[in-house]
Amino acid sequence: EVADIASGLRVLVTAGPTHEAIDPIRYIANRSSGKQGYAIAAAFAQSGAQVTLVSGPTSLPAPEDVARIHVTTAEEMLYACRQVGSVDIAVCVAAVADWRLETSSAHKLKKGDDERLQLSLVKNPDILAMISQPGPSRPSLVIGFAAETDDIQQNAAQKRTQKNCDWIVANGVDAQNAPFGQDDNTVTIIDETSTETWPGLPKKEIAARLVQRAVKTVRSRTSHS
Ligand code: PMT
Repeated sequence: EVADIASGLRVLVTAGPTHEAIDPIRYIANRSSGKQGYAIAAAFAQSGAQVTLVSGPTSLPAPEDVARIHVTTAEEMLYACRQVGSVDIAVCVAAVADWRLETSSAHKLKKGDDERLQLSLVKNPDILAMISQPGPSRPSLVIGFAAETDDIQQNAAQKRTQKNCDWIVANGVDAQNAPFGQDDNTVTIIDETSTETWPGLPKKEIAARLVQRAVKTVRSRTSHS
């Protein structure tokens, strides 16, 4: 039996990949399975929080006591997150496509005789940066994730300041750690003043620890105000 340490808190979690259509048959995507984000949504719900999970395409069942909203594209994910309204804690675990087709085709692209195909891409909105914007409705704690192949902690720390989130959870992607689709992960939590590595843990355990730490932080902030 888990104590209801998060009762009374509203939590938004994004998870999974986004799919950006090329044509009705094809899309651009990435390797996120949704497992880490779903584990975090489940852990918050088990701790008594009121959880909304905005999920890109995955094959995972909705965790118990979690309100799940299905989306496909980054733009839909942004819209769904806005609709959720104000929350105490936001955790952006989704691997959002940075780019989408400038215009996706209404018809299947034909192979034709050309040896090359040029696709024109435009930048997607940044959901984490939008949620982190200062203002009365900003969550008291915003947590981003970053999967990096090089200079993992430096790149992740840079994303924390650029996107204005409170914590960034960095995971390295290399021969030792390939978090996509796996049940285990190695993460480093970076906040304004500290860097803490949790090596080789099940995603569910990472979720449980993150919930503990997030709830403690939010409760100590609000008790001073
Ligand atoms: O889903 P799993 O198979 O369990 O794998 C978990 C994971 C590896 C996907 C997860 O742990 C993870 O690291 N997610 C973030 C992946 C990533 O590379 O994010 P990013 O570096 O592109 O973006 C950084 C942060 O900004 C993320 O919080 C992301 O949600 C957010 N972002 C990015 C782009 C964008 N347009 N909008 C965003 O909100």
